Amino acid sequence: MSFKVKNNVYWVGKTDWELRNFHGNEYSTHRGSTYNSFLVREDKVALIDTVWQPFAGEFVDLLSKEIPLEKIDVIIANHAEIDHSGALDELMKRIPGKPVYCTTNGVKSLKGHYHRNWNFQVVKTGDRLSLGSKELIFIEAPMLHWPDSMMCYLTGDNILFSNDAFGQHYASEFMYNDLVDQSELFTECMKYYANILTPFSAFVTKKIQEVLSFELPVDLICPSHGVLWRDRPIQIVEKYLAWADNYRENQITIIYDTMWNSTRIMAENFVAGIREADTSVNVKLFNIAHSDKNDVVTEVFKSKGVVFGSPTINRGILTAMAGFLEEIRGLGFKDKKAAVFGSYGWSGESVKMLHDALDSAGWEVVNDGLKTLWNPDDESIGKCVAFGKDICSNFK
Ligand code: FEO
Repeated sequence: MSFKVKNNVYWVGKTDWELRNFHGNEYSTHRGSTYNSFLVREDKVALIDTVWQPFAGEFVDLLSKEIPLEKIDVIIANHAEIDHSGALDELMKRIPGKPVYCTTNGVKSLKGHYHRNWNFQVVKTGDRLSLGSKELIFIEAPMLHWPDSMMCYLTGDNILFSNDAFGQHYASEFMYNDLVDQSELFTECMKYYANILTPFSAFVTKKIQEVLSFELPVDLICPSHGVLWRDRPIQIVEKYLAWADNYRENQITIIYDTMWNSTRIMAENFVAGIREADTSVNVKLFNIAHSDKNDVVTEVFKSKGVVFGSPTINRGILTAMAGFLEEIRGLGFKDKKAAVFGSYGWSGESVKMLHDALDSAGWEVVNDGLKTLWNPDDESIGKCVAFGKDICSNFK
């Protein structure tokens, strides 16, 4: 399938309805995804990005029906990750020698992936490539989200091809932002930002300010995943600026793992205390062992404070929580507060371990945490309610 985006610009990508896990098993994709590739058929013909490796053969076959491959003059590789460069090897076997435009880091990444000496043409921000009456302007975007990442802008049609930035893992028959369910769209946009771009927020803000300073008219933003932004494309730019600015809502999230429900009972009793302190705060609970970790990361992203709990096992914490803490550490959230808790039977190390892990991940842990011996009795439950009230006050 292909479709006209605007004038001589065509979408020639792949909609992946089946995708449920991305980055190996690191990112859940409940609504599939798309790998967006664009064919710009001006006097010169440019292909912008390709698709994920498993679809390489299908992509090149369909592309060859769209246009004789030798008529493609230039290939733009905005990003070397294989969900966008995955069909390059197959394509370059058919049209060897065609120039591949990318950043300096793009050459390193593409060579590292494919071990080929293609006709690389290195570009940097502000470089222009004439396609006839229109030009492509290149904009390096390092760490949005790889060192090689790049965007390009098509003059005349005023299209920003933003690669991963502003994308969503969202398969839809309707490929424009105004045609899809807005709740689904923004849920996927936020999940994408929270799970992929959070560590690079400082780069996001700086890059957006730089691109805005160019004062280029933008009629369309075409990311490399999901729907294209044609209705007020600035709206996703505004969202990114807000999300990059240590985003938080009036939400407290309680995340725990439990063996025999003692830690769960503690978690549930914090809610009454939180309610006593603040009737408007949104409180959500997740058993991390039974939850989708990427969805929970998105809830952390929205939270002003997060309460982490695990019972003690073998002088440590349960493995689902341990894995989630590693996720949290890597994402480098800023300006969020934490508290910790857990039940125990004899040695009781879990609470200190949670505290230390979050502290070393840069979180402000508001107190020493709450431990409960064996199953919570009425006195322990009273302490949980008081703890909930106390952390709510501390999470302001
Ligand atoms: Fe960084 Fe969609 O690849």
